[in-house]
Amino acid sequence: MEAIQHLKWRYATKKYNGQQIQDDHLDTILESIRLSPTSLGLQSFKVFVVGNNAELRAQLLPIAYNQTQITDASHLLIFAAFNHVNQNHIDNYLNNIASTRQIPVESLDGFKKSIIGFTSTKDETQTAEWASRQCYIALGIAMATAAILKVDTTPMEGFNHEGLDTVLGLKAQGLTSSVILAVGHRDSENDRLANAAKVRKPSEEMFEFI
Ligand SMILES: Cc1cc2nc3c(=O)[nH]c(=O)nc-3n(C[C@H](O)[C@H](O)[C@H](O)COP(=O)(O)O)c2cc1C
Repeated sequence: MEAIQHLKWRYATKKYNGQQIQDDHLDTILESIRLSPTSLGLQSFKVFVVGNNAELRAQLLPIAYNQTQITDASHLLIFAAFNHVNQNHIDNYLNNIASTRQIPVESLDGFKKSIIGFTSTKDETQTAEWASRQCYIALGIAMATAAILKVDTTPMEGFNHEGLDTVLGLKAQGLTSSVILAVGHRDSENDRLANAAKVRKPSEEMFEFI
C-alpha cells in the first residue's frame, strides 16, 4: 500500500516553486536512471542534466511551447537516444561486463554475435526508436524514485524535437532527443492540479485476466 500512496502523491506538476531539490535526491534519481533495465543491457541513451543554466533554459522555453516547468523546475533531465550502435559501444559494453564480473571477454563471443545480429538490422530511425523506448523505462523508474523522495516531476513530450536537437548539438553526437523530465518542488498554491483527483480508467477496463 505504501507504494501506491507514493504513486498517488505524484502528479505531472504544472507549476514549480523554483526551489532546488537536495543534491542527494538528485543523485538518487540519477542513480535510479543508471540502474534502469535496458534492451541487451546496452544503455543506448544519455541524459543531459540542466541545473542552474538560465541561458540554456531561456533557449529551451520556446522549444517546449513556453511550458513554465522549463524555467521553474529545479533540474531538467533531457533523455537523448543514440541513433546507432557501433563497434565501439559494443566493445565498451563487453569489456565492462568482463571486468565487472571478472570473466574473459572471449567468453562473451556468442553474446557479441547476437548483439551485432540484433542491432545491425536497424537503420538510424529504428535504432533511435528502440533506444527511445529504453529512455521511457528509465523515465518511469526516475518518476517513481522521485515520488518516494517527495520530489515532484513532470514527464514532457511537448517540445519540438528538432529544435532541441539543434540547441544541444545532438545530431553531431549521434543522438536524438527523446523525452524531458522536469524535477523540483510543486507550487501547491498556484498549481491548479496539485490537489486534483487522479483520473484513471477503472481496473476492469484496463486489466483482463486470461
Ligand atoms: C510521455 C508523456 C509526455 C507528457 N508530456 C507532458 C508535457 O509536455 N507537459 C505536461 O505538462 N505534461 C505532460 N505529460 C503529463 C500527462 O499529461 C499526465 O501524466 C497525465 O495527464 C496523467 O496525470 P498525472 O500524471 O498527473 O497523474 C506527459 C506524460 C507522459 C507520460
